[in-house]
Formats: sequence, C-alpha cells, structure tokens
Amino acid sequence: MSVNVKRRLDYQPPLYTITNVVMHVQLHATATRIKTVSTVQRVGDHNSPLFLDGEKMQLLSLAVNGEAYNLYSHVEGGISLTEVPDTFELTVETEIDPQNNKALEGLYLSNGVFCTQCEAEGFRRITYFLDRPDVLAKYEVTVSGDKEKYPTLLANGNPIAKGEESDGTHWVTWQDPHPKPCYLFALVAGDFDLLEDSYTTTSGRDVKLELYVDKGKRDKGVFALESLKRAMKWDEDTFGLEYDLDIYMIVAVDFFNMGAMENKGLNVFNSKFVLADQDSATDEDFFNVESVIAHEYFHNWTGNRVTCRDWFQLSLKEGLTVFRDQQFSADMTSALSNRIKHVRVMREHQFAEDASAMSHPIRPDEVIEMNNFYTVTVYDKGAEVIRMFHTLLGADGFRKGMDEYFRRHDGQAVTCDDFVAAMQTATERDLSHFAKWYSQSGTPVVGVSRMYDKQKRTLHISLSQHTPATANQQEKEPLYIPVAFECIDDTGKHYPDDDGLIKDGLVILDKPSVSLMFSDVPESCLPVVLGNFSAPVKVDNPLSAKELLQIFRFADDPFNRWDAMQSLYDWCITQIELDKSVPDSVWKALADVIAAEKDNHELLGECLSIPSFETLCQTRVGVDVAALASARQSFCAQFASELQSALLTVWNGFSSVSYTYKQTDVNARRCKNVALGHLARTADGEALIEKQFAEADNMTDSLGALRAAQSGSAEVFNSLMTAFEQKWNHDPLVLDKWFALNATTEREDILAHITMLKSHPQFTMGNPNRVRALIGSFAFYNPVGFHQPDGSGYQYVTDYLLELDQHNPQVAARIVTPLTQWQNYADKHQQKMKAQLTRLVNHEGLSKDVFEKVSKSLA
Ligand code: ARG
Ligand code: ZN
Repeated sequence: MSVNVKRRLDYQPPLYTITNVVMHVQLHATATRIKTVSTVQRVGDHNSPLFLDGEKMQLLSLAVNGEAYNLYSHVEGGISLTEVPDTFELTVETEIDPQNNKALEGLYLSNGVFCTQCEAEGFRRITYFLDRPDVLAKYEVTVSGDKEKYPTLLANGNPIAKGEESDGTHWVTWQDPHPKPCYLFALVAGDFDLLEDSYTTTSGRDVKLELYVDKGKRDKGVFALESLKRAMKWDEDTFGLEYDLDIYMIVAVDFFNMGAMENKGLNVFNSKFVLADQDSATDEDFFNVESVIAHEYFHNWTGNRVTCRDWFQLSLKEGLTVFRDQQFSADMTSALSNRIKHVRVMREHQFAEDASAMSHPIRPDEVIEMNNFYTVTVYDKGAEVIRMFHTLLGADGFRKGMDEYFRRHDGQAVTCDDFVAAMQTATERDLSHFAKWYSQSGTPVVGVSRMYDKQKRTLHISLSQHTPATANQQEKEPLYIPVAFECIDDTGKHYPDDDGLIKDGLVILDKPSVSLMFSDVPESCLPVVLGNFSAPVKVDNPLSAKELLQIFRFADDPFNRWDAMQSLYDWCITQIELDKSVPDSVWKALADVIAAEKDNHELLGECLSIPSFETLCQTRVGVDVAALASARQSFCAQFASELQSALLTVWNGFSSVSYTYKQTDVNARRCKNVALGHLARTADGEALIEKQFAEADNMTDSLGALRAAQSGSAEVFNSLMTAFEQKWNHDPLVLDKWFALNATTEREDILAHITMLKSHPQFTMGNPNRVRALIGSFAFYNPVGFHQPDGSGYQYVTDYLLELDQHNPQVAARIVTPLTQWQNYADKHQQKMKAQLTRLVNHEGLSKDVFEKVSKSLA
C-alpha cells in the first residue's frame, strides 16, 4: 500500500490563502450541490500552482473571476490550478452524496438529519479548498432545502436573511464575523425540538442559547443547557473569557464518530453527551454531559479564537481544553473523584498506548491519517502536561500565562512552542527543559529508594527517573518532573528534608536522580510520592502492605491515600498469582479502613474499588490473561467473603432518598453500588441485587444492580437483563448500556452471543455508538473473551473490523487498538494477535486509518 507520511518538521506556510468564502448549499439526500466563492490570495512571490484539497466529490464547474477556467488538473488528493492571478475570486461547484456517506466525515445525512464533521480534514469532502488550519477566512453560508423535511437550517454565526421558494424549499443565510479555519465550518438541517435560553455575559452581551434535539426529547436537554450556562460563567470567573457571538447553538445527533465538535457558534454533539434524565442516564452520564458541553464551549477560546497552525499541534487546543474541562468539573463536583477518574484513564489507556507501537509524543512528529491522532496521549497526557504548568506556576502564574497567550495570539493559528513561550514570558520562568514533555514519548518511571541509618537516625531517599525506549524513539532524556512529596512516620508526623529540596510539597526531579536527606527521623519514615498524580509517570516505590496502610492512614494528600489502597490490592493480587495467600492482618486492616471511613462516601467508594484488569496489566509484563483474570477474580471473591459484614453495613447505610444529581448523593450512590458489586459474590448477593433493581428510581441504581449481577449468578443476571431490555428497547442510547454489559460478560459462548446481538433489531453497524457499545466493549473490556487461548476472540474482532472498515475507517481504526497492544501480553497471545494483524495489513482495500495503526504495530 502506498501511503503518504506527513512530518511535523516539513511544515511550510501556505503558498496561497483564502480570506473570504461565500457558499450556497442546496441540500439533497443523494445529490447536494455546493457553490463556493473564495477570495484567494497569493502569499509571497512565487509561481507555484494553487493546490486545493478535495476528495470524494464531483467537480461540476470551476471559474476564476467569473470566467470558466480550465488550466487545472486532477491530482492525488485534489486539483492543481496553474497561472492564477495574485488575487482573485475562485468559484467552485461540487456535488456530493450525503446519504451514502457512511464514514460520517464531511456532510452526511443520517436519521433524516444533515450534519457536518470537518475536523480534521472533512471540509475537503464538501468543496475544493485549502483544507489546513492556518488558512483563516470569513464565511457567509446560504443553506437551502425542503421546508417540510428540514424546517431548521443552521450554519455558523448569525442568521442574516431567509426566504422561501415556490417549489417547497426555503433558505437561510448565515454570517460568521470571526475568521476561522475550515475545520470549524458546520451546517445542520433537520426537524428538531428546540430548547431556548439566554445568557448575559459579564460585560453585558446578551447571548441566545439554542439546543436542538430529536423530536420528543426536549426534557432530556434541560441539564445540558444548564451545564452550558455554568461553563460560560466559569470561564468568565476563572480565565476572564467571554463568549463572542450573539447566538450559541448546540445540536444533538445520533450518528457521530466522536464525542462532539466545537464548530464556531454551532457545536454538533453525539446525542449521548446531551440527552440525560434521571430515568435513562446514570450519574456518570450526567457528569459526562456537563464535561463535554464545557469542553466544546471552552474551545471557543482555546481552539477557535486561537487555533492550531498545523495538525501536529493538536494538543495545543485539546490538551489545554481537556485540562480546562477537568478543572471545571472538579469545581462543579469534587476534586478527588475527578482526579481519580483521570488517572484511571491514564493508567488504563494512555500508559498502554505508550507501551505499544503507536506511542507518540503529545505533539506527534509523523502522521499518516490525522484521525488516528485524536488519542489519549494528545488529549489526556496533553492535559497532564498543562496541569504540570499549573502546578509549577501556580494558579496565578498560569492565569498570567493564559492572558499573555491570548494577548499575543488572538485570531492566529499557532504552535505548542508559542504557548510555552507565552507562559514563560508572563511568569519569567525558564521552561525550556520542561518543554521536552512535548517532544518525548513514553511513560517515565520514577524510582524511589531509601536507606535508613539506625545509629545516626538519618534517612536517605533517592528519586530517579528512567523512560523506556519507545517504538518511535530509542533515546530518552531526563524530563523535568514535579514530584509531590511527603515524608511521614507511623504516627503521622511529617518531616522536612535537610536541604529544603521539598518546596511547597514538591521535589523537582530534573536529572537522572535527586537525593533527599532527612536527619534525626524515626525508622518508620516513608516517602509518599506523586500526590494528586503530579506527573504522568509510573512510580516504582517498593512498599510493604503495612507501609501502604501507614500511607493510607496518614498521608495529607487524598489521592495518595486512595493510591496506597490501589497498590495494596495490586500487591494482594500478586500474592495470589504467586500462589501465596493474603495475610489475615490485611483483611483485618481493611475492615478497619471501612469502619474508619464509613462517613467519607467519596473516599470509601473509591477505596473499595479493586484496580481494573487493564490497570493491573500496566504494572505487569508478559500478561497471561486467564491467569491474571483469575487471580483478580479470586481476590475479589475473598474480599467479599472476608469483608462481607462490613460491606453489608455500607450497603445498608444508605436510606433511599429520591434521586437528585448532586455530589453528596452521587458519592453515596457510588459507594453503595461498589459495595453491592462485592456483595454479589456472597450468598446474600442475589436478594440485595433484586431488591435494588426493583426499587431503583434512577438509572444509576438500576445499572449498579445489573453490573453487580454480572459477577453473581447467571440466572439472576439473565432475568434482570431481559427485564431491562424490554423496558428500554425503544431507546437505543440506553440500550447501549445493555449491549456493553452483554459484551463484557464472561461466558463460554461469548462469540455466539455477540453474533446474536448483532442481529438485534436495535443494532446497526452504521451507528458508531452501537458499534462501540457491542464490539468496542468486547475488545477493550472483556479480556477473557477477547484473549481466548485459541485466538478466536481476535479473529472475531478482525472479521468485524474488515467489514466495518469499508464503511467507517475512523471507527474501525479506534476499535483495532486492543489488538495493536500485543506487547503487554504473554508470547502465546502475541503470536495469535499478530496473526490477525497480519491478516488485516494484507487485506486489499484496507483504509489508511487502519493501515497506519496495524503496520506500525507489526513493524
Ligand atoms: N475537536 C473535537 C473535540 O472536541 C474532536 C473532533 C475529532 N474529530 C475527528 N474526526 N477525529 O475534541
Ligand atoms: Zn476538544
């Protein structure tokens, strides 16, 4: 397969630019016509042809300054025009087929709704254009279509004119005063329910808020609209950033490849991240709605007002915007549970990506298909890097840096280096070493070792760092790592180090190793590192079970307390893997922990959660899946039986109050449901699960009961699942929870079961949410089913991907991820995983999306 690799260092400024665009879009299911008039300008002094990106369209006509033009030729990926004037009007007419656009990129029609997705490179499927983020133009867009089928016609900016024709069509003209790159272009047409509201900014601008949802779903949009107002207020309070148009629109659609898209003034959302009510959405769904609504809103400044120069800089807007939405969520809900949520994503997914052949820095150097780089590394590790700026500079310093960034770059397309430079100037800090986080991939391991001298009563602690080589980069240099640090003895007393290297609770590890001396301290002193997950690293700090419990009791940092429990569970599971038993003293201590924290529902809920299989994989090498899964299972079973009465007390401790989505209740429900998950493995489990399922007045408790049932008796699980399916059969978004539970269940006949579900009336390969719920959940979260010793799980997913890839390469390339992460598993798995990857790579007609990931993985 011939593929075109793009390199970051090959960046060239555009040879031409487009400053103004006037579009007319005539909607038609299979033959939409688009007339685009662009004002084109040559940049600099050269005679190079004008290359315009374009794919999957018919070119109907082309004119320069109003005259038909034929000095052009079709070339790979677009057209090339020669001998164009220095400044001119280019008119391009194209025709596309939205109904048969199953890739859901560009303009597509699904469920009777026209909508667009142009990031990263979808605009080139609508018209021939300079489809790159450093070309910024003003747009005026007229959308016309059948009035009855598409009463709502939307595009970016403000509506300035509308009208009707005698043939049953109508039209609306939209004008966006802010120059923007074409990836922020959007258009929507359909028949919706509308929720309206308004917001007045601090400086007094009245903004109309409009939320469009499927007919009949209006009540489910209320929470999203409230979330939007909270996000608008928060960005004013925290960063002094106000909205800049008279209208802000959000449209929820059922067919969407990703979560949502920040198109200027017209966000398009996967309906999963808009629609929520107590009956159909869990606490987690409510949380996600608020966080994605905020994320897209925050992009208006970090993404739209200041955008990326090229796609290698994606983390400039995504890492920063994820950090901003995380801070917002922490303020709206609670800091600890948020932090734990993000760290789980890092440990389960980002560390795995870094350990695979897809490992890349948060600012990648080489890309074949840009869609493959909307990754946990660019987004979540990117956000961790921004968080480290915040940690190092403090909230005030960080705000100064942000102010400077906007002062310098508002209206521009810039790079990650520009961001670092603004932070650096504003705070007068040298951030050049720190900036290596942008270019170096891989997960650093911070080692902790200690030496205690009994005679002298001195403790020597050494912190070291090492980043293992990654597929893309052999040589690694020491990074600038902020390590939150506490030194505590077994009475909870904290000690400073002799040389004052611990400043504001942080040690800066900016060389291969750093030594800390503590004089006149007791032998029980322990190093407690990486409070609040102060850097995206793994820690190798050999501690005994007793010492972990000491940290749990006495550390100031609540994240460290939670993490000590996670390490303790990991240690216990290792004991079982080694055929040893978990000492009684540990069970006794765990009972004490539960008793001591019984009123701290947030911490208790988190501390009763056993590390996921995926997290455990990251502290092990050469994983034998069945062996690790069974060790984890048997630990969970013992946990339930040893702590049964304590867990029962927890579960019983929650009087049933009627549902509200507020943090104290969320914490309580979480705690109760984690306890139920354990109790499912005891003799009392069935009765408790059935009781909770029957009495639940909300989706969180219903689903909590179902999840618990998944690890109890098959009979109860199956009967509850049937009841759930009957109740929710009409609502595919809710049924996705049911598909996912089916796909993650451990059962002998799992593949046959999934095959049966594929023919469920609500399942369709055309909808990415369905595919992720069933096939994605299986590949990502059913380790025992996916990694069956005979390789049948791998083969099953591969067969499916080959079919999906023909319609929707972007989603296929996401779901292939678990196969590409073979490095972590035992040899016997590796062979069979690679066999399927080889099948994929040899497949004729494979998309470049899947090809890029698979070929890198086999290289
Ligand atoms: N910018 C969107 C966000 O808010 C994601 C768009 C991703 N689109 C894609 N085709 N990969 O994060
Ligand atoms: Zn984003």
